[in-house]
Amino acid sequence: MSAIAITGSGISVPEFTITNEELCTAFNQYVRLFNTENAAAIEAGDVTELRESTAEFIENASGIKQRHVVNKSGIMDPTIMRPVIHQRPNEELCHQAELAVEACKGALKEAGRVGEEVDMVLLASSNMQRQYPAVAMEVQSALGARGFAYDMNVACSSGTFAIQAAVDAVRGGSARCAIVVVPEIMSGHLNWCDRDSHFIFGDGCAAFIIEALDNAKGEEVWEIKDTRALTRYSHNIRNNGGYLQRCEPERRDEADKLFVQQGRKVFKDIVPMATNFIKEHMGSQGLEVEDISRYWLHQANGNMNRLITKRVVGRDTTPDEAPTILDTFGNTAGAGSMIAFHLHSKDLASGSNGVLCSFGAGYSIGSVILQKR
Ligand code: COA
Repeated sequence: MSAIAITGSGISVPEFTITNEELCTAFNQYVRLFNTENAAAIEAGDVTELRESTAEFIENASGIKQRHVVNKSGIMDPTIMRPVIHQRPNEELCHQAELAVEACKGALKEAGRVGEEVDMVLLASSNMQRQYPAVAMEVQSALGARGFAYDMNVACSSGTFAIQAAVDAVRGGSARCAIVVVPEIMSGHLNWCDRDSHFIFGDGCAAFIIEALDNAKGEEVWEIKDTRALTRYSHNIRNNGGYLQRCEPERRDEADKLFVQQGRKVFKDIVPMATNFIKEHMGSQGLEVEDISRYWLHQANGNMNRLITKRVVGRDTTPDEAPTILDTFGNTAGAGSMIAFHLHSKDLASGSNGVLCSFGAGYSIGSVILQKR
């Protein structure tokens, strides 16, 4: 059996951006409005007074300077505080499929392929726009792809877990040419009124073409040397939103139906887990730190990534060794490490090795060891 490879990658990025300063202006207007409207209840001790957010805190704590979003006006309006996204007619591409199709087209072009040559579409994301039919099938149809398509969700590890599933499918013979596409409209599930988390996410999408190395036609080909995945159940990042929400209307709109995390705990848990995971995975492939040219890590927190790569490599890493995209994209969940790969892999020479690794809710960790051909 031939080795398996990523033969093309593509991304799509919504046009609107929100800087930390813009975000805090809107958020702080909301805070003042809320505190004024609830002044009596706050005074009586029945409601907690909200505190303002600062751009300095956001950048220092996370490394994020701005994020891309599919709708800006709603998030910027202190009386709305969420993206305004209208449901389209069933005959039109839904928002998530639209983001996915654009990234897929870029990936297909890089791979020298057309939609009809694809026989598996794996759409992996932290959130699906609807329950069914699978958004993956809509993307499959829009691309003119054959075979089969399905959705999967492993939150921030959606991309790496889907890569593993696609590799297994191609290796096992159930697919010849697979697309893994990770369209993340994270702005839709973020609580823009919560000071602890309102700055974290951004929207974006990445797609990879995965096929047998022997069939590769493109110029940018990365052999997938190995994949590895791990899950360990935790409540520390959670979203209780779901189809049963309507069955308890009195609790339907509570904050836990959106993204909630214990950020400090997550940081402390994930750093050693991800560090050991990457080290063990490299070790299993006989790779030493000096054999690895680049780490495309999950893009949630710059400080966390610096710590993880420092512990893996045994010294501070350079931005070239572990590129950052979260400064301009925010946390794009499952797409983050794949976007980092797409934007920061083309400069590497043939024979270079790299590690693409995601970590997040679940907890889940996925890693993919790659070698440029
Ligand atoms: N503006 C100003 N101050 C803020 C603030 C904001 N938006 N949000 C929190 N603070 C304050 C807090 O009130 C606290 O002050 P206090 O000690 O006086 O109460 C202080 O800043 C520290 O808050 P904390 O929540 O402990 O910050 P942190 O340093 O842990 O950073 C995260 C928060 C979320 C950036 C960080 O914990 C993180 O990224 N963790 C990893 C999360 C992760 O990777 N998740 C995966 C998601 S997929």
